[in-house]
Amino acid sequence: MKRVTMTILGLTLLTAGACATDSDSNPPGAGPTTPDDGSGSGTNTQDNPEPEPTALDDRKVDYNEALRTASLKLTDSLPRLTDIIAVRDASDPKEAYEERLAAMLEDSRFSERMIRYWRDVFRQGGGTLDSAPVFAARVLVEGRPFTDLLTATESTCPSYDTTSDSFVDGNCDNGVETHAGLLTNPGVMAQFYSNMAFRRVRWVQEIFACQSFPAEFRESTTKVGEEKATYTSPWDFDTVSAEPVDFRDTSSVVCANCHTSMNHLAPLFGQFDDEGTWQDSVQVETPLSPEPVPTELSHWLVDGEETAWRLGEPTANLPELGAAMAQDPAVAECLTARLYNFAMSKQDIVSELATIPVAVLEPYVKVLKESDGDLGHTLETIMKSEDFVRF
Ligand code: HEC
Repeated sequence: MKRVTMTILGLTLLTAGACATDSDSNPPGAGPTTPDDGSGSGTNTQDNPEPEPTALDDRKVDYNEALRTASLKLTDSLPRLTDIIAVRDASDPKEAYEERLAAMLEDSRFSERMIRYWRDVFRQGGGTLDSAPVFAARVLVEGRPFTDLLTATESTCPSYDTTSDSFVDGNCDNGVETHAGLLTNPGVMAQFYSNMAFRRVRWVQEIFACQSFPAEFRESTTKVGEEKATYTSPWDFDTVSAEPVDFRDTSSVVCANCHTSMNHLAPLFGQFDDEGTWQDSVQVETPLSPEPVPTELSHWLVDGEETAWRLGEPTANLPELGAAMAQDPAVAECLTARLYNFAMSKQDIVSELATIPVAVLEPYVKVLKESDGDLGHTLETIMKSEDFVRF
């Protein structure tokens, strides 16, 4: 099982990162710079406030190079010669660069680029599968709170008109009573249709929490089953069903390490059919031999268990799930990390394990929070940072 090994690798890395979150070493207002302050090399900060030099310190600030990189990333084109010269000859090249950066974020080509950005992030797009990336691009470009991605109830299936270079309102037409941003998107639900709705759950977890399953951990592990296997989830082991699929099996892997979280989420997504339309009954199947059967609630969870985002955060429906996720700091961190990786040309944080040190990310997470969740502004701040303008 290749997936499991990879997950364990991811788990180790991300757990280490999560611990580091606890130390909030950034002084208020320190702003988004490289973390070359504070962590000094010795105790004598008076004589030597600078940390030990590294290869990174050899980089030189180059606003024209930054302009070029930003322009390619945000508008898919090289800067105009007049802008290159203006930045080169400016008495304050930083200001000249930042003015042009701000203008790029207003450029209609930026909207189209962001649609592509979200297509890459979501692994989805084109034709009927474009409403999720277009909606997310609109939230970013218009500076709306990122929480709209999870909680918006109106116009969650907009389109983009390339003639007028503008977003066009559109409601998703998939039978959902109250929408919850991308969590009720027909394209997402169609593309990630699978047995027991687990692929949809995986998508939600990996896209918005930037971590593959297992998603939750108990403080100290415990032993379960005849094999005395290591159980790491905080949920009670017996909350997941033992039949018809045995999620309490411990003979090879401990299914419940992942599936306690997953099975509390999956029923929320089970009523979308394979075209992403909400129906009155569960539409996914339980893979039994010789024939799969329609999934029943009791296949996921034992009687009396409620659906939940995480242990202690019950969510009875998708709008409640969206609201819980919108409050989860892991989601704000994840979306910021994705923007950072985009700006710095890094690969996917989950599939390629392109994780970012917490100290680097933290200032930008703060920017996101303090700007009421404005992803576009956060991206702009990343592109103004020392890391972005030094080469
Ligand atoms: C490391 C986490 C993890 C562990 C451990 C794990 N699973 Fe899963 N399981 C997943 C994920 C993620 C998916 C969805 C995969 C996808 O479709 O992309 C899944 C999918 C499934 C499915 C649906 C497969 C299908 O046909 O689409 C079943 C059934 C299932 N798991 C049962 C189990 C059982 C039983 C065990 C223990 C023997 C187990 N899983 C262990 C994460 C896990």
